[in-house]
Amino acid sequence: MERAITGVKPTGRLHIGNYFGAILPTLQLSEDYETLIFIADYHALNYIKTAEELKDYSLRLASGYLACGLDPQKIIFFRQSDIPEVFELNWILSNVTPKGLMNRAHAYKAMVEQNEQNSLEKDQNVNMGLYNYPILMSADILLYNTKYVPVGLDQKQHCEIARDIAQIFNNRYGKTFALPEPKIEEDVAVITGLDGRKMSKSYNNTIELFCDEKDLRKSVNKIITDSKLPGEPKDPDCTLAKIYGLFASKEETIAYKDKLKDGLGWGDAKKELFEVMNSFLTPMRDKYNYYMQNPLEVEKILQEGAKKARIIAKKMLNKIRKKIGVNELFNN
Ligand code: ADP
Ligand code: TRP
Repeated sequence: MERAITGVKPTGRLHIGNYFGAILPTLQLSEDYETLIFIADYHALNYIKTAEELKDYSLRLASGYLACGLDPQKIIFFRQSDIPEVFELNWILSNVTPKGLMNRAHAYKAMVEQNEQNSLEKDQNVNMGLYNYPILMSADILLYNTKYVPVGLDQKQHCEIARDIAQIFNNRYGKTFALPEPKIEEDVAVITGLDGRKMSKSYNNTIELFCDEKDLRKSVNKIITDSKLPGEPKDPDCTLAKIYGLFASKEETIAYKDKLKDGLGWGDAKKELFEVMNSFLTPMRDKYNYYMQNPLEVEKILQEGAKKARIIAKKMLNKIRKKIGVNELFNN
């Protein structure tokens, strides 16, 4: 089986956009690929500025993926910071990475453009973690000699950078790395948020995946509707119906849309949506709460995963060390 790897940043609480847009499609990969999924905590360091938050989001992310059905027997699930080899490779790759390649990376360019618009110095608020981010991501990918990198469209450029870096290294030292390819699912739906825009933390319009029943009800009640009264026909493609469709069967969704067209009041429509979401999410929430209350169990799973990942990583790093003229690590 070919290998696929993806990293997820612990930068907030998971929401239903993450579940349908990223978690579900990633978990399905293990049917076709030898799959590695890791918590990219050292990538999050650029966004999360307190130890408590980084710890909390990392545990939530790990518990979340496990609650969503990640089977650690099938998927190598680990934490980036548990793999010291990746940081050594990060340094090695820094030495084959042209600075110009980093100047063109989207996240950095966006910061520069924003600074220029605000008449600020071009590199204001840019730290080297942001600037070098694509090199660390390349190390994540190349350390496992991975062919496929399942990511969202926003990460396509980073995968291309990893490929460029692999090529430069291969040209200098001889074929070492497989050339990675982004694997972008074209037909993954964009999940709508409370206000009808794309659900995103940055829009503050999310429905948390594992919130308790009370908060779930509150979120559903916050979904924006028009001001049509009960009895008036409603748009069957409204936000409520879109979200309903994610959690119910096709037949149930058709029936729900028919009721909306027939004048179901928004209040009742929200009650029905809450019920269908809550019965879908309750078993997942229960599992999530179990893991959150048993962090040592999560820790054990991540450490087991790291052991498996390090077997691949050490072998690869030794090969790379030899290529560049550095001794193989002893005690290996
Ligand atoms: P956010 O926009 O809330 O900060 P992230 O950037 O952390 O979300 O997204 C993590 C993953 O979840 C990415 O792969 C992204 O494509 C996916 N994702 C986030 N929001 C949505 C959405 N509304 N619909 C589909 N996928 C989403
Ligand atoms: N940069 C990715 C993101 O923001 C996360 C990530 C880090 C990643 N390392 C990776 C994704 C390696 C795929 C492969 O979502």
